[in-house]
Amino acid sequence: MIKEAIIPLAGLGTRMLPLTKVIPKELWPLGKLSILERILQECEDAKIKKIYLIISKRKNIIKNFFDKDFFLEKKIKNNHDLLNRLNSLSKYKKKIKFIYQNSAKGLGDAVNTCKNFIKSSHFLLILPDDIIINNNCSKELINIHNKSKASILAVKKVPKNIVNRYGVVGFDKKFKNIININKLIEKPNIKQSPSSLVIIGRYILSRKIFEYLSKTQKGSLGEIQITDAMSMMLNAGQSFKGCIFKGSYLDCGTMDGYIKSFRLIGSR
Ligand code: G1P
Repeated sequence: MIKEAIIPLAGLGTRMLPLTKVIPKELWPLGKLSILERILQECEDAKIKKIYLIISKRKNIIKNFFDKDFFLEKKIKNNHDLLNRLNSLSKYKKKIKFIYQNSAKGLGDAVNTCKNFIKSSHFLLILPDDIIINNNCSKELINIHNKSKASILAVKKVPKNIVNRYGVVGFDKKFKNIININKLIEKPNIKQSPSSLVIIGRYILSRKIFEYLSKTQKGSLGEIQITDAMSMMLNAGQSFKGCIFKGSYLDCGTMDGYIKSFRLIGSR
């Protein structure tokens, strides 16, 4: 059973500076909800019981977002809709544990900060830059995991000329929307790229990943990459499946992507 999720939020948000200098991107609105609330809602619907939010001292404001505010609650006590919105944050807070990653050494390093906390054999990893609408992608991966017990990555076909922004998978077998991954490479150039199927930020990973993360050297962008650790695991004989997921992917990792996503979500 997948009951634990890791959500890395310690990134500096440099692509969106100066707007991210004070307000982390994850608290920016996307329609009526913040990006982070959308991710937490996905976890809630997927029946996740424990959520590890990885933040840094610079991003303590994310922790404050979940604090109870009696002053505001009193002010809006007659507006039930608003009160419910505020209270929904306390509901999430019960499940959240904040973990600090104070130096931005990459996604792999961020995930590794949770190595002493994850209790079950597998856990969910969600990257908040990637919003998936019209289908709960975490739930979709969990359902596949429940049957196969495998590690599973959400994947999607993108135009060849942008594969260098992503972790790319190679595969040898495909059955319906599930592939058997035989290669994993972070941000390859077009020539190196084994396919145009890329990893979108939803992963079901085995706890074994922590052994490999501890051995992973700096890779693309001079950072510890989760894709490199997964690649080592794959080469050591561990199996990884890819799920060409059903929902629609909104890229909130770049300014253009965010603006496009905001327009698409509208007032939802
Ligand atoms: C990260 C991962 C990459 C994945 C991408 C999805 O990259 O390292 O493998 O494809 O998220 O958004 P980042 O966007 O942090 O550069």
